[in-house]
Amino acid sequence: MEINMHKKLLEIKNLHVSFFTPAGEVKAVGGIDYDLYSGEVMGIVGESGSGKSVEAYAIMGLLQSPGRVTGGSIKFEGRDVLAFTSKEQQSFRGNEVSMIFQNPMTCLNPVYTIGNQLIEAVCCHDVIPKNQAEARAIEMLTLVGINNPEQRMKQYPHELSGGMRQRVMIAMGLVCDPKILIADEPTTALDVTIQAQIIELMKEIQKLTGMAIIFITHNLGVVAEICDKVSVMYAGKIVEQGCVEDIFYKPKHPYTLGLLKSMPRVDEEQHERLIPIEGTPVDMLNPPPGCPFGPRCGFCMKICLRQEPPQIEVGDCHTAACWLLVDDAEKEAADAQ
Ligand SMILES: Nc1ncnc2c1ncn2[C@@H]1O[C@H](COP(=O)(O)OP(=O)(O)OP(=O)(O)O)[C@@H](O)[C@H]1O
Ligand code: SF4
Ligand SMILES: [Mg+2]
Repeated sequence: MEINMHKKLLEIKNLHVSFFTPAGEVKAVGGIDYDLYSGEVMGIVGESGSGKSVEAYAIMGLLQSPGRVTGGSIKFEGRDVLAFTSKEQQSFRGNEVSMIFQNPMTCLNPVYTIGNQLIEAVCCHDVIPKNQAEARAIEMLTLVGINNPEQRMKQYPHELSGGMRQRVMIAMGLVCDPKILIADEPTTALDVTIQAQIIELMKEIQKLTGMAIIFITHNLGVVAEICDKVSVMYAGKIVEQGCVEDIFYKPKHPYTLGLLKSMPRVDEEQHERLIPIEGTPVDMLNPPPGCPFGPRCGFCMKICLRQEPPQIEVGDCHTAACWLLVDDAEKEAADAQ
């Protein structure tokens, strides 16, 4: 298959998502922007509650009440995803983009065999005879490295190990030959060796099919392993974005620096002490004014507590939102008011 690396698949602009709870509005995603091109693997990292999954659900049209998109746009190959009819939405989810979730047991039906579920997934996408659907299902299981696939087709989810179930989930995500695969923490429930195998598998499949991947994770090590570019999220915003080298070797945002310092490194001779990021995540019902990272930031200035920092271009395709990057921050803030 010829892979066009430069075709823009997804364009997200100023996306806002809120949950309207009895306690008030939770601004889970507060204005994020990014583009995704074919063949690219983008990592989305950030601590728990930073809006990684909500953003993915918004793309998939899977947001549930009381959550809804309150602003911005999502375009797929130039088409407005937020204006899709439910039929278009279904076809988008079935044929263009698919998602694999953190816990396969919540997505696999315990009372149907793996074969039944895979064949149903194949038939949802293509009108093909059952024997061909079965052959396709077996082909997918082989692709994701499941041995003895004919036998596995007859088994129920509980009869497989966690790693195998995750492989089945990946196979389900791939049956429609998607242009974009969204993988939401697909390896966190697995032990480290199996995690490494699954990441390796996803890398291989990505090379083979040329699909783009949005890889959501807490784990910067995984990002270094598989991603081309990275968006670092904090409190519903992308605070830094760049290619993997920028984020690992030239991080500009104090939160990214904190993430890197809290991560074990095996590539350095002298092992530095790991430093956790002090403080607690933002209360999304009552976020602080100014920079959301302000209350936890060792570099926090007066202006940070008053006004949100702008996104600053710090290199080719490398941006960060921090007042430290603005030459005359006080003047800039005053002008913006
Ligand atoms: N149904 C809901 N009702 C109210 N708030 C919600 C709901 N679902 C998510 N949120 C809020 O949206 C914010 C973002 O949640 P999200 O699940 O995207 O976080 P995440 O970055 O994926 O975290 P994790 O790493 O734990 O999966 C959180 O503050 C969460 O409390
Ligand atoms: S804007 Fe201020 S508080 Fe926010 S990360 Fe930068 S220095 Fe820290
Ligand atoms: Mg999540």
